[in-house]
Amino acid sequence: MENGMKKNTIAVFGAGRVSGWHINNMAEHLPDVRIKYLIDPFMNEQMEAMGRKAGVHIMTKDTQIAFDDPDVDCILIGTPAPTHCELIRKACAVQKDVFCEKPIGVDVDEIRHTLDVVEQAGIKLMMGFVRRFRFAAVREAIEQDRIGKPQLVIVFTRDAVPPPENYIKHCGGIFVDMTVHDFDLLRYFAGEDIVEISARAECLVDPVFQKYDDYDTTAVTVRFESGGLGIISNSRGGSFYDQKVEALGPKGVVRGGVGPESYTSVITSEACQIIKPSSSHKGSNNDAFIDEIKAFFRAINGEIPIPITGRDGLEAVLMSYAANLSVKENRPVRVDEIG
Ligand SMILES: NC(=O)c1ccc[n+]([C@@H]2O[C@H](COP(=O)([O-])OP(=O)(O)OC[C@H]3O[C@@H](n4cnc5c(N)ncnc54)[C@H](O)[C@@H]3O)[C@@H](O)[C@H]2O)c1
Repeated sequence: MENGMKKNTIAVFGAGRVSGWHINNMAEHLPDVRIKYLIDPFMNEQMEAMGRKAGVHIMTKDTQIAFDDPDVDCILIGTPAPTHCELIRKACAVQKDVFCEKPIGVDVDEIRHTLDVVEQAGIKLMMGFVRRFRFAAVREAIEQDRIGKPQLVIVFTRDAVPPPENYIKHCGGIFVDMTVHDFDLLRYFAGEDIVEISARAECLVDPVFQKYDDYDTTAVTVRFESGGLGIISNSRGGSFYDQKVEALGPKGVVRGGVGPESYTSVITSEACQIIKPSSSHKGSNNDAFIDEIKAFFRAINGEIPIPITGRDGLEAVLMSYAANLSVKENRPVRVDEIG
């Protein structure tokens, strides 16, 4: 079966920013998927209009209804991070597959317990790390051995403007909310786990972050299991949205970007080749979200393995907590010190 040919019925939890993107993409690109519920305890007219536009059947404040409905075979979690694990466990209890936005949770013990429940229930859980899809061409070049084994991987991400205060309050801090994407990308590109992290973080963009013991600007270095190195830098307000990645190996370098310079290139001593042409910021970003949600349905319908697992979700959170501890204690922190 190709591209969600099987009829799936989904319930979407959270009627905020990210769910809006997902329901629009499902409505436009997965005609065989029925979005039966859009659920939000704070459902308002604007959210209802968003649901109607995407053809959602029922918009409701009832957070139990979809779990009790045997028609629903999967759920999408687009709610604040502290609610994710409980929703995953509820889905396990009634055998529904789950697409969960990053991060998988904000409490390491709860995440581990939830992953045990997922395993016992035997449901499929896919994590939403959309940047894997955005930079798939970079990973492909690495897999094709165009640069050799990556020795140094660099990722930087700059948001155009900080998120609203209400989001900052519940997001768990910059490392688990924003850098978590970049930790996941480093593992994805290097194809191995990160063992040690040194991080610095400051509040330079907006003093609101200080109110929540949070930061808006970070500089992180990591060491991979086999000794390779990685660098991440994040800013919550870089005046324009900008993402760059680079993997350097003994044979060359592969670079990718989204933002003002959108491309993927491979450079070796013989040649410099653009392997993915530039596209608009919105276009390339949304393409990755479309690829991601299509992959979810292909995975739950048994066409491909789950591309991003609960363990990937856990590893990224462990790295985030190691980075936070490194800032607090001003020292390198091993990831296995966490949890
Ligand atoms: N992959 C990405 O690039 C990306 C981008 C944005 C957000 N996210 C992630 O998506 C999640 C949501 O972020 P957002 O920006 O859409 O937040 P948001 O605040 O815009 O929306 C979240 C919504 O969830 C609702 N909600 C809270 N508890 C709920 C529950 N138990 N059941 C149903 N609804 C509930 C809230 O009322 C709110 O309307 C976060 O985990 C965030 O990290 C990922």
